[in-house]
Amino acid sequence: MTTNILSFDELASTSDEAKKMAKAGAAEGTVVVAEAQTGGRGRLGRAWQSQKGGGLFFSVVLRPEAVPAKCSSFTLAAAVAVKDAINELYELNAKIKWPNDILLNGKKLCGILTEVNIEDGIADFMILGVGVNVNNACFDDKLKDKATSIFLELGVLTDKQKLLDAILSNISDAYEQFKNGGFAGFIEVYENDCVNIGQRVLAHKGSEKISGTAVGITELGELIIQKDGGEAVCVNSGEVSLSQ
Ligand code: BTN
Repeated sequence: MTTNILSFDELASTSDEAKKMAKAGAAEGTVVVAEAQTGGRGRLGRAWQSQKGGGLFFSVVLRPEAVPAKCSSFTLAAAVAVKDAINELYELNAKIKWPNDILLNGKKLCGILTEVNIEDGIADFMILGVGVNVNNACFDDKLKDKATSIFLELGVLTDKQKLLDAILSNISDAYEQFKNGGFAGFIEVYENDCVNIGQRVLAHKGSEKISGTAVGITELGELIIQKDGGEAVCVNSGEVSLSQ
């Protein structure tokens, strides 16, 4: 995948802008970056704080030509790619929290939001939106116990362009591998670096609560939970939120 980076000072959301461009025919590999977002979005309808200065906010247009269920598992492969870029660049030990949060010392460092645009049952395009806490010196009261940044961990300011280049290079490699073999080839490495595996989890699926132990990940990126009663269930990231 060849990347074409388009940089903006401020946007409502890089994912909204990338979606608009994709609808107008933007090529795969178009990357929209903003210094700040006024309406940054996270998973499950949450907001993503995106003030100027601290974070890296970008979205990539992908055109995988696959069924939507398969496409969404690319989010998990992308989490591996982003985590590896961060760990290699800064010699850190970031981990993944299913499905696609990146944690450092138990606190959130990065979030990924994938949105698939469907035409006639096939994914027309997919927008991969990534937010990394890079040079944030502090977080508001709501986030301060849950979030961290590369600056807070290392004590030095980081070049966001260098980080973006390293992440895009890894995402590009992961995307080629994913197009050839789907998520199957990522399962082992994902499970090895996923903090949930072997841990107790509580999944909220609508009003239903599923409690048990997380034991693995399927080829579609679902989490396999061994329920306390014995039966194993697979839950997908679009329908559950996880607490510990
Ligand atoms: C999450 O953890 O809930 C996912 C957060 C994704 C945030 C990024 S920032 C760049 C892109 N634009 C958005 O509006 N959201 C994503």
